[in-house]
Amino acid sequence: MGRTLAIVNQKGGVAKTTTCLSLGACLAEQGRRVLLIDLDPQMNLSVCAGVRDPLDDGGIVDWLAQALGLRATHPPLVPISLLPNGLHLLPGDPSLVTLEQRLLEVPSYELGLRKMLNAIASDYEYVLVDCSPSLGPLTIMALTAAQHVVIPVPADYLAAWGLMQLITTIEAVKGRTNPSLDYSLLCVMFDRRNGISHSMLARLRASFSDRLWKMVIGLDTRVREAAAAGEPILRYAPKSRAAQHYRQWAQEILAYFEASDV
Ligand SMILES: Nc1ncnc2c1ncn2[C@@H]1O[C@H](COP(=O)(O)OP(=O)(O)O)[C@@H](O)[C@H]1O
Ligand SMILES: [Mg+2]
Repeated sequence: MGRTLAIVNQKGGVAKTTTCLSLGACLAEQGRRVLLIDLDPQMNLSVCAGVRDPLDDGGIVDWLAQALGLRATHPPLVPISLLPNGLHLLPGDPSLVTLEQRLLEVPSYELGLRKMLNAIASDYEYVLVDCSPSLGPLTIMALTAAQHVVIPVPADYLAAWGLMQLITTIEAVKGRTNPSLDYSLLCVMFDRRNGISHSMLARLRASFSDRLWKMVIGLDTRVREAAAAGEPILRYAPKSRAAQHYRQWAQEILAYFEASDV
């Protein structure tokens, strides 16, 4: 099975979904087989990828329920919509809210997503999980299933608040169920004309040094347009600043995760 990366930040509006879809599209462009999993009941990733409805049968809730022992039968084995470039998506579902409310009653619920991935993810080199803006049970499942957490952090003064709580949560999951879990930070929405952006980036570099990816994703209004069009930025505006930045970051990702493979 491939590498599972969870895109996590308990703040909303910090480019988790944008980062998940853009990275997935970049990796697919580089010939990797990629599965995107929309673990947010708000379905933003699915909508940004042009998928507006949850699957009727064999969707994320069915798969998780089966992995958690809440459903006896296996969902059908073709739950995944195809996007351009061989990028696959398991769409989100508003009823993830109801499932999340039941999770704490399920013994070892944290392992649910990991078990689910064992059943469906063998065909992929990368599985990218887009999380909801919370550190609730769904996100804990994602942290338990992942090898690596990418934390998008906007270059904005208030964005750093809450980072320590997130890192403490990651460390707790590491101690309990996922000893090899690692994390990194990606500076996003960087406004090069704004002094705050530069001072925030300097602070992130000072605090996190080699956990911070070298590539910084710039602010780019075309990202919003791409979301409205339901397309990855790479396809909607292939030459835009954000598309180029995400491509360069994907090269860093590939070098980091695959250098030791050869
Ligand atoms: N680099 C960027 N430049 C401009 N807008 C961006 C950028 N990245 C994300 N956005 C916009 O910011 C908003 C929040 O991004 P989103 O990916 O949905 O965040 P999250 O998933 O963390 O809630 C969206 O409207 C998105 O289009
Ligand atoms: Mg989101």
